[in-house]
Amino acid sequence: MNNTNNYPLTFSDKEYKALAELIFIRSGIHFGDSRKDLLKSRLDPILRRLNLNSYDDYLNLLKLNTSEYLIGEMINEVSTSHTLFFRHKKQFDFFRKDALKKIIASKISFNNQELNIWCTASSTGEEPYSIAISLIEELGFNNNWSINLLATDLSTKSIETAKSGNYHSEQIKNIDPIIINKYFDKKYELNNSFYSIKEIIKCFVSFKRLNLITDKLDFEKKFDFIFCRNVFIYFAYSEQHALELKLINALDKGGYLFLGGSESLSIENSCFMKHLGQSIYQKL
Ligand SMILES: C[S@@+](CC[C@H](N)C(=O)[O-])C[C@H]1O[C@@H](n2cnc3c(N)ncnc32)[C@H](O)[C@@H]1O
Repeated sequence: MNNTNNYPLTFSDKEYKALAELIFIRSGIHFGDSRKDLLKSRLDPILRRLNLNSYDDYLNLLKLNTSEYLIGEMINEVSTSHTLFFRHKKQFDFFRKDALKKIIASKISFNNQELNIWCTASSTGEEPYSIAISLIEELGFNNNWSINLLATDLSTKSIETAKSGNYHSEQIKNIDPIIINKYFDKKYELNNSFYSIKEIIKCFVSFKRLNLITDKLDFEKKFDFIFCRNVFIYFAYSEQHALELKLINALDKGGYLFLGGSESLSIENSCFMKHLGQSIYQKL
């Protein structure tokens, strides 16, 4: 492990396979044959910071009992967090103007004033906060609903960012200025300005770390809405298939599942759901 500054680092197929296996076991993220360069570009900076000369040394370090922090750091690095406020606008329009109204009408007819929503790969918070804003825009601040909005992600780093609720002006540029004025405060720190999501929205969302592949997905209540968008890409087919079933099981009858724009349910699982277009499904 002595550093002789042996850069650029080499990354053998054997080392790639061993790391891919470890990442798969710990996160469910699948690194197939074509993603070796991508993995190297993500992990090289970590090896440099640790002053390591080879991926073999890195693997040995990760195998130590005391390496939980390093494993968490590696998983943070390989789980791409790209996201946007109100990403896939047509889905948000459908959520607010169609699905939400229908669920509300159905619940009222059963004297039930509770909404349960799960945003499963919530990344740095833009998606769950967009959901919370849509809910408030539809229901108003002083509504009689009990709203449970759970936001989960694998990456502890993304969850910390999400919890802070602070965003650069670049990150909010696609939001309607009326919404920005209503739900964000402009703040200044050391000559930098940023936008902070208002407490009244923040308090709707509870953030939690959860691994969609390796954690048990047991919840007390069924969800009316599940957002599981742009995360299937990380998983091998068998993991995705098993996850789909768990999501369907976690959804209430008549509840809605939102997938990423280019994602769909596998044919075997489609029979439990009605496809409404735009990668939105309703549980039969
Ligand atoms: C590309 S982002 C998508 C964010 C958001 N859902 C959206 O559509 O804008 C993918 C997110 O999935 C998370 N992720 C990857 N593997 C995961 C797993 N096994 N369990 C939970 N989250 C995972 C990553 O940490 C990342 O935040």
